[in-house]
Amino acid sequence: MSEILITGTGLYTPANSVTNAELVDSLGRANERWNAEHKQEIESGELEERDMPSERFIERASGIGHRYVVEKEGLLDPGRLRPRLPTRGEGELSIQAEICLEAAQEALAQAGRKGAEIDAIIVGCSNLQRAYPAVAIEVQQALGATGFAYDMNVACSSATFAIQNAVDAVRAGSARCALVLNPEITSGHNNFELREFHFIFGDACTATVIEPEASANAGESWSVVGTRLATKFSNNIRNDAGFLNRSEETARDPHELLFRQNGRQVFYDVCPMVAEHIRSHLSDAGIAIGDVKRLWLHQANLGMNVTIARTLLGRDPEPEEAPVILDEYANTSSAGSVIAFHKHRDGLEVGDEAVLCSFGAGYSVGSILLRKRSD
Ligand code: COA
Repeated sequence: MSEILITGTGLYTPANSVTNAELVDSLGRANERWNAEHKQEIESGELEERDMPSERFIERASGIGHRYVVEKEGLLDPGRLRPRLPTRGEGELSIQAEICLEAAQEALAQAGRKGAEIDAIIVGCSNLQRAYPAVAIEVQQALGATGFAYDMNVACSSATFAIQNAVDAVRAGSARCALVLNPEITSGHNNFELREFHFIFGDACTATVIEPEASANAGESWSVVGTRLATKFSNNIRNDAGFLNRSEETARDPHELLFRQNGRQVFYDVCPMVAEHIRSHLSDAGIAIGDVKRLWLHQANLGMNVTIARTLLGRDPEPEEAPVILDEYANTSSAGSVIAFHKHRDGLEVGDEAVLCSFGAGYSVGSILLRKRSD
């Protein structure tokens, strides 16, 4: 049977760069204002004072130094703390479709494909800007693609779950050439009002082309040796924004309608789950961990990635073995591991084996075993 290949990847990076210092400054000013406005309730013990954020904490606790966002003035405005995006009409391309196209162009160029040759598009991300029609179908039309397109959401694991769907569709013959897109506008659902969350995320979009070896063009390609997904329910990462909010009897606390997490518990629960997931996937595929040349892991926390790599390798990873993009991009949700793959795959030889792995809310974990097939 023909192997299934990744023949191209693409990345859209927003033009607006936001440093930790800028975020800490805007939230610090917002907190001073909030504390002054709620002085009486704080003094009477009704409300707790909002503590000041710190750059040192952010870098030490997460490894995040910086992020890119689709709009920065609104989210840095202490009186607003969320992006300011113009409303687009039905005749205009939606913003998620627009960033998908940016990432798609690069991935298609790498694969030597035209939009019209794509016959399956899967948009996977943590939040979709509307319920329907699917963003993927809008992208399908804009690219002149054929076949079918749909949206899906498995939070930070959306890319690997979508890649498995695409691989399965191509292997089964229900698609000839699939495109997976991960338009993560995390700044729209990040909580910039609370210091425990305001630094976590950044925006980006990734694209991946998947097709069978038999019809792939020449150029760099990666064989998909195997895919494996797993889920286990947890409330430790949660966002309650949804279509039933307006029908619920009790008004929600606004903080429940954005990303929230019990980060420390996530760290403790997810690291062993991911290490065991990768270990058993490699073992079942007959690949020794010592032969794995690169781990492109989800980018949420530097400590998490070092812990997972250390558990697998039995030693600290060399920087190039488990590449980090978190310092520059922050957590870009499902796009993170694909950004690491897109930017850090130089130096591998034909035949080298590697793992792309995402993890996050659900809990969810997805691993894609890859072997370099051609340069
Ligand atoms: N600046 C200063 N202090 C801060 C702060 C900030 N921006 N954010 C939190 N703190 C404080 C906390 O309020 C807490 O204070 P307290 O001890 O007085 O209560 C203290 O720092 C420690 O907070 P904690 O949440 O325990 O820190 P942590 O070491 O667990 O780091 C994360 C927080 C989020 C960086 C870390 O838990 C993490 O990355 N977890 C992985 C989960 C993840 O990223 N998931 C995303 C989806 S996969």
